[in-house]
Amino acid sequence: MDEQDQNLRLVDPHAAPPDAEAGSDEIVLDITLRPQHLGDFVGQEQIKQNLTISIQAAKKRNEPLEHILLYGNPGLGKTTLAHIIAKEMGASIKVTSGPALEKVGDLAAILSNLQEGEVLFIDEIHRLNKIIEEVMYPALEDYSLDIVLGKGPAARTIRMPLNHFTLIGATTKLSLISGPLRDRFGHTFHLNFYEQADIEKIIKRNAAILSMEIDAESIGLISSRARRTPRIANRLLKRVRDVAEVEANGVVSKAVTSRALAMLGIDELGLDDVDRRLLSALIEKFSGGPVGLNTLAASIGEEMDTLETIYEPFLLQIGFLERTPRGRKATTIAYQHLGFDAPKIQTLL
Ligand SMILES: Nc1ncnc2c1ncn2[C@@H]1O[C@H](COP(=O)(O)OP(=O)(O)OP(=O)(O)O)[C@@H](O)[C@H]1O
Ligand SMILES: [Mg+2]
Repeated sequence: MDEQDQNLRLVDPHAAPPDAEAGSDEIVLDITLRPQHLGDFVGQEQIKQNLTISIQAAKKRNEPLEHILLYGNPGLGKTTLAHIIAKEMGASIKVTSGPALEKVGDLAAILSNLQEGEVLFIDEIHRLNKIIEEVMYPALEDYSLDIVLGKGPAARTIRMPLNHFTLIGATTKLSLISGPLRDRFGHTFHLNFYEQADIEKIIKRNAAILSMEIDAESIGLISSRARRTPRIANRLLKRVRDVAEVEANGVVSKAVTSRALAMLGIDELGLDDVDRRLLSALIEKFSGGPVGLNTLAASIGEEMDTLETIYEPFLLQIGFLERTPRGRKATTIAYQHLGFDAPKIQTLL
């Protein structure tokens, strides 16, 4: 494991997969599976096209890339892409995160140590505090740092030049980033949920890296349950590999895959126990909604933030949940999937 990845884990609470019990083997595996070049990064074609052009243009001009903001749901590849961009630029990368930057001095130390052309990756950039954010503005715009010396009437500001660098910010919550900060990024890329075919490609590639013997049917089965998210696809693949090793001499068949997925409590749409509890509570306790997400979270004993960032986006994506001004509602297909009678249509006559 290189130094970068160690840094990453120190400051990035999302870098490790969501299973809290993930051991060091798991982390090493994640690093092995992480694509290193733009060509290995599956899907997100429009983003890759734009990046390829910008990287080539910047290299031609011998300039650093413009600052880049990556946003999208957890596990879609923001951190991976940030590392790839640095690598494609031939630049090194320093990694930190919004909540880790508490004091202006911390930020000043990081910025003033950046080499010419280096990439600074700030994960969870929506969690930067306001004071730090304001120090960032001149750094992003003019590559300079305004340092206040002294206090009171004697205070004066000196401007310290910085090397030219590229900031890559990542966030799951674009709406929490202030307008002035957002405006300072040259590019903003939205990572979407992946097409099923792309998830299959990722599973195929990773199975080969892990020297797994796996058939097309099993790949299809895993991909259909991976919530269109590479991190989940990788996690499922690793669990299937474990079951195959213990029960079938390492050979992955459809039967082994189905068993592994059943053991994880994942249904044919990729929903797990938390999704089902969320939807069942919404239907049974709140008559299908609308109900506020905080009330719903409290009723099933989960954190609201977890539901909002990890569970809800996929349920919205597959049309099981609806977000209304008065709260969340379960849709008819959610009722059907969980085996409830479809809701009676209420008229307001
Ligand atoms: N396009 C892709 N092609 C192949 N593998 C991918 C791709 N995107 C992500 N992955 C894999 O999925 C895993 C999760 O990606 P990553 O950590 O970059 O997500 P993230 O968007 O930074 O998530 P978080 O918001 O939780 O920080 C990576 O370890 C990587 O192996
Ligand atoms: Mg990340």
